[in-house]
Amino acid sequence: MLRRAITLFLLPVVALCLATSTGDSAPAPHRAGSQHGMVVSASALASAIGRDVLKAGGNAVDAAVATGFALAVTYPVAGNIGGGGFMVIRMPDGRTTTIDFREIAPRAARPDMFTDSTGAYSARIHHGSLKSVGVPGTVAGFSMANKKYGKTIWSKLVDPAVQLASNGFDIPAGLARSLSGARKNLGTYPASVAAYYKNGEPYAAGEKLKLPDLARTLTRIRDKGRDGFYLGETAQLLAAEMKRGGGLITKEDLKGYEARERAAVHGTYRGYDIISMPPPSSGGVAMIEMLNILEGFDLAAEQHNSPKYVHLVAEAMRRAFLDRARYLGDPDFSRPPIEKLTSKTYASGLRKTILPDRATPSAPAQVVEAHESTETTHFSVVDENGMAVSVTYTLEAGYGVGAVVPGAGFLLNNEMGDFNGKPGVTDTTGLIGTDANLAGPGKRMLSSMTPSIITKDGTLVAVVGSPGGRTIINTVLQVVLNVIDFHMSIEDAVKAPRFHHQWLPDVISVERNGLPAATVSALEAMGYHVKFGSSQGTAHSIAIDPKTGAKIGAADPRDADAGAAGY
Ligand code: DON
Repeated sequence: MLRRAITLFLLPVVALCLATSTGDSAPAPHRAGSQHGMVVSASALASAIGRDVLKAGGNAVDAAVATGFALAVTYPVAGNIGGGGFMVIRMPDGRTTTIDFREIAPRAARPDMFTDSTGAYSARIHHGSLKSVGVPGTVAGFSMANKKYGKTIWSKLVDPAVQLASNGFDIPAGLARSLSGARKNLGTYPASVAAYYKNGEPYAAGEKLKLPDLARTLTRIRDKGRDGFYLGETAQLLAAEMKRGGGLITKEDLKGYEARERAAVHGTYRGYDIISMPPPSSGGVAMIEMLNILEGFDLAAEQHNSPKYVHLVAEAMRRAFLDRARYLGDPDFSRPPIEKLTSKTYASGLRKTILPDRATPSAPAQVVEAHESTETTHFSVVDENGMAVSVTYTLEAGYGVGAVVPGAGFLLNNEMGDFNGKPGVTDTTGLIGTDANLAGPGKRMLSSMTPSIITKDGTLVAVVGSPGGRTIINTVLQVVLNVIDFHMSIEDAVKAPRFHHQWLPDVISVERNGLPAATVSALEAMGYHVKFGSSQGTAHSIAIDPKTGAKIGAADPRDADAGAAGY
């Protein structure tokens, strides 16, 4: 029953993923090379705005902020001001930091808030009601990034998004398909239909989309900074919508939101340095744990995506995902054992438990994790001085909870769905009830977003990341392995077929046509269940050519409207 409810609930999300991931008729270059600066994002229009900020003398943080605001207009499936995310920064002198602008639970949140009047867990409340909306973090995060690490005045970074929203832009093919697929989902909220449809019908590609309410909200943000979102009219409109629809966020919650600066999590892999996001993302810790396990195997001696290779990588994934479920949550509320999980010694113990030619079954009696959907977006920026910025941010599901705030024009997230569903209830339908990630006032829900930066001997190598719920960690892992073990160009590393194992369910899911039949048979003979799915992630990345220093931008071909813009 529960599984059916979750499946029904997810159908629109899967449809959206397909709608945005066809990769055909790309309207802008997916690959670009340049000597100075580079921006790669899910929207060619937004990448161009970031590129123009770099060209005008802005640094990589400035370009990331401008790109992020532009994506909130041109890529509404995941670009946002009503959601949250993470920014990983590496300065030209090698210092690193991260900005955590993950949503937080409102003050009225409780661990059992996703249960109905009978006390039963409700997937609808958890993922599809206004109670699933977390206090947005994006504007506070971008404001902190601009104040601490930017050099361009704030208004210049927000204004291009204001112009896009008020003057309108030509709807690219991927967005037209995506909005058409999302019509039913967004239909619950009249303000969403009014904003994104023409008399209730989908726009065709090439038609102009104007977003006047969003333009007014962005204008307040441009003119008043973060207060233009967290105080005054925007806060008032958001709080009113919550009250109307049974949500929990109040004006006090909005006023109290703070982004956090946190030390990056660091790992090493075959002489390369990996810089990534710490908790409340599980991404950096889990990826480093996997890399540490895999470092003890001669992966380059195996053929890429051969049965042996997939086996070793899947076993590393399985072990890291079990630890993710056991230990990780908001570090402001519990103490995730980050040092242990990212240590080489711990990884070598785990490596010894991997059999050379046999899958290790996952134990269903242990923790089982809850669903995460697959709509988010990642963008990468490198500037002329080598400053690198890796940002992944999200509304959680495609178009978040599907609700545009009336009068304010922006979509709300459903990120509260990343908290565990019901305390103490862990079962094979996909619920997990462990303590570290239960909802509570002011708490950040556990994420899988893995914005990352790779360096070698103090020199920038690549900026990587992806959307895709829990598949994010494994997508980023495989891009890193493709670059380091298989010396692929960034374009090939991003394009190569991907697979995913997350401990439970005990299945390797593979992209459509991602592995030949003989490989699947060999994996099945080792004890694996292999399942083909749709595409996995969109890893918009940048690499530095070691010989020329050129920045090579590679937008993932799985994302139709994406673009790499350099100068
Ligand atoms: O934070 C997380 O891990 C999820 N809410 C991200 C969702 C996601 O990636 C959906 N994306 N494509």
